[in-house]
Amino acid sequence: ITNNLAATPPMGWSSWNHYGPDINETVVRDTIDAVERLGLKDAGYVYINIDDGWQRYKGSREEHPLEVDPVKFPNGIKGVADYAHSKGFKLGIYSGPGVDTCAGYTGSEGHAEEDAKLFAEWGVDHLKYDSCCSHGTAPQAEVQQVMLDMSNALIATNRSIVFHACHCGWVNVWEWAAEEGANQWRIGQDISDDFNFVGNREKYYFDVLDMVDRGNEVAQYTGPGHWNDYDMLIVGLNGESKQLVGTGLSDIEYRTHFSLWALAASPLLIGANVANLSQYNLATLSAKEIIAVNQDPLGAPMYLQWSAKDNSTQIYAKALKDGAMAIALLNRGGEPAMITVSMREHLTVPWDVYKLRDLWKGQDRGPYDIPFTTEVRSHEAKVYRVEQVACTVGC
Ligand code: DGJ
Repeated sequence: ITNNLAATPPMGWSSWNHYGPDINETVVRDTIDAVERLGLKDAGYVYINIDDGWQRYKGSREEHPLEVDPVKFPNGIKGVADYAHSKGFKLGIYSGPGVDTCAGYTGSEGHAEEDAKLFAEWGVDHLKYDSCCSHGTAPQAEVQQVMLDMSNALIATNRSIVFHACHCGWVNVWEWAAEEGANQWRIGQDISDDFNFVGNREKYYFDVLDMVDRGNEVAQYTGPGHWNDYDMLIVGLNGESKQLVGTGLSDIEYRTHFSLWALAASPLLIGANVANLSQYNLATLSAKEIIAVNQDPLGAPMYLQWSAKDNSTQIYAKALKDGAMAIALLNRGGEPAMITVSMREHLTVPWDVYKLRDLWKGQDRGPYDIPFTTEVRSHEAKVYRVEQVACTVGC
């Protein structure tokens, strides 16, 4: 089944990474205003997604109805949805298929149709249906069924509601979610505010590099309408999140994180308090040419093309609709490194003459007829658009 939505990866903001369950109407309205004021809406960020914590009751659905917390949202979800729509945004909400959600609020277990109708009446445009705790140990078939139930229920409302199915790392959600009409699904555990930190990884969390490695394993499952979700962005959290573990990334590391999510065609959901973004991080999130790679209509995944023996340097590539390619030269190591790209060897294309555009600097380079070599700083990813100029042998 399909809802025919999310032809390109959804872009917007989500409350969880910075606020956790401590979310309310003022935060949502202020975020909408800030996203607009800072030009992020024009850059493509239109979904304003309320994650866990908007519900009135803690505890199971058997004991409580699903209602909005009247203190946090005095005008209801409908109130913020109307405000979002009046400014040209879309509004997202959160629930889960269990009797309660991951943060312990009432869930949708056994009430998929009723809740889908309620969300549609409120004017909701996106639903994150999070199964991590509620069906955390359930067999795959059961998780599939509860996701399918909600997918069908959303379609039956006749409202266009993007469906984020599952955070269910213990089942291979990517293998079946697209067929069930899901538009995005998480590929790993919760992200931590770390670039590469073994300490938090051991405590279950995925850092930026973990997500990139997992993403490469499941890359084939991504495409228009159905996206591997690398989790909400951590750009600008600076280790100050109320919710996430981790001590934050450097400016350049946040930029690398963003570049890789962009090439991977992951949904781009800002997780920071938008009003507090530094100029540098704002520029990172607003980078037009990087976002264009993410939103390319072909919807191709990013694949690892080449890795140094010790994995310290790597080349990733994503095909683009116009026949060009976006590539990322990633230095995972602690020292600056030279990275060389050969069209035939690393990108497996017979482009004997090619040109490049540095998408962070906005600079054209070439044409070249020899491999391209550049220095990449520690934890930097250089991103280029590569285009064929001529093929001379075996074309
Ligand atoms: C687990 C998810 O992975 C998070 O992104 C967040 O939605 C929480 N659940 C909410 O409880």
